[in-house]
Amino acid sequence: MGTYVVTGGASGIGAQVVRDLTGRGDRVLIWDIQSPGFDTPASHERVDLSAPGSVARAAAQMAEPVQGFVHCAGIAGATSVGHANLAEQMRVAYEVHVVAFVSAVQSLLPRLIAGGGAVVAIASAAMDVIYPGTLAYGASKAALRRVIEQLAVEIGARGIRVNGVAPGAVHTPMSASAWADEAYANERKRYIPLGRQSEPSAISGAVLYLLSEKAEYVTGEVLWVDGGVRHGCSTGRWNTSRARRADRSIEEHCSEQATTRTTILRSVSKRGSGRRVQNLHARRIRIDRAPGSSTRRCVPRLGRGHQSRQHLRRDLGR
Ligand SMILES: NC(=O)c1ccc[n+]([C@@H]2O[C@H](COP(=O)([O-])OP(=O)(O)OC[C@H]3O[C@@H](n4cnc5c(N)ncnc54)[C@H](O)[C@@H]3O)[C@@H](O)[C@H]2O)c1
Repeated sequence: MGTYVVTGGASGIGAQVVRDLTGRGDRVLIWDIQSPGFDTPASHERVDLSAPGSVARAAAQMAEPVQGFVHCAGIAGATSVGHANLAEQMRVAYEVHVVAFVSAVQSLLPRLIAGGGAVVAIASAAMDVIYPGTLAYGASKAALRRVIEQLAVEIGARGIRVNGVAPGAVHTPMSASAWADEAYANERKRYIPLGRQSEPSAISGAVLYLLSEKAEYVTGEVLWVDGGVRHGCSTGRWNTSRARRADRSIEEHCSEQATTRTTILRSVSKRGSGRRVQNLHARRIRIDRAPGSSTRRCVPRLGRGHQSRQHLRRDLGR
């Protein structure tokens, strides 16, 4: 049983972290601008993390050793270079995501050292993925990652590990209104390889791992718990026509495998076969002769390296 401080513990991911910690008997103090909307044995202190000095004041009221600090508080909101109040949005995003985090670690440091504590901050896939309209949010989350790495180096020798978790799309009040729009939700899902939002429990599970002894040699790390969205975006799935082509080829590939693992190519004309070979080659399908038969057959190329066209020609005996 230990003592943990959780910012943003009144809602969403933070609330789940609070539930998981209190559920196993830990003492939890929530720092949040709003009160928790659920029954909890955790204590709550009203702290506005965007107000300079608020974190230091809250930390000064604590005396006992701390086993963990989890920074979940966050604010989204569309910002781009065209917004009139961009500078203020940037300031608030940096205050809540970055400055409050650094101030909390600084203020809690003696108690964290006394408690052999660990630190985890919730970053975001937006620290790497450039979603349009997330100028303040994405930039501040990218800065947060840099701060996680920096603090890990600075206080590692004191026995404090500092890590982050980068969620993709999580089912919380923060994302609720955007995801209530079906068209938006479907578009977002297209870029998530796992095809859905995560629940807060998936993020909390990663947080608890990073706080635990199981992660005793992990520091300065940001663990992605994003359903693969950074790969979904970086590999061109934002480009819808390409994404559709890729989906179609996978469907074809799977249905070919489901019906028969060997499709007989009845007639491959000398002239046409070259183009056919190229097409099949692009779809990672190997062509060879059925045993004891003069017909050529088409075999999905499972687990084999990509053969050159010359190799395919050799397989065909041409
Ligand atoms: N929901 C997602 O899809 C998603 C994706 C990636 C990252 N994240 C990050 O996860 C974290 C938690 O987000 P969530 O989805 O649970 O959102 P949420 O809105 O449910 O919870 C955020 C909490 O932060 C608190 N908070 C906001 N501003 C504050 C301030 N100035 N002072 C004190 N508390 C403040 C809120 O009161 C709230 O309790 C955030 O850092 C967010 O950026 C969320």
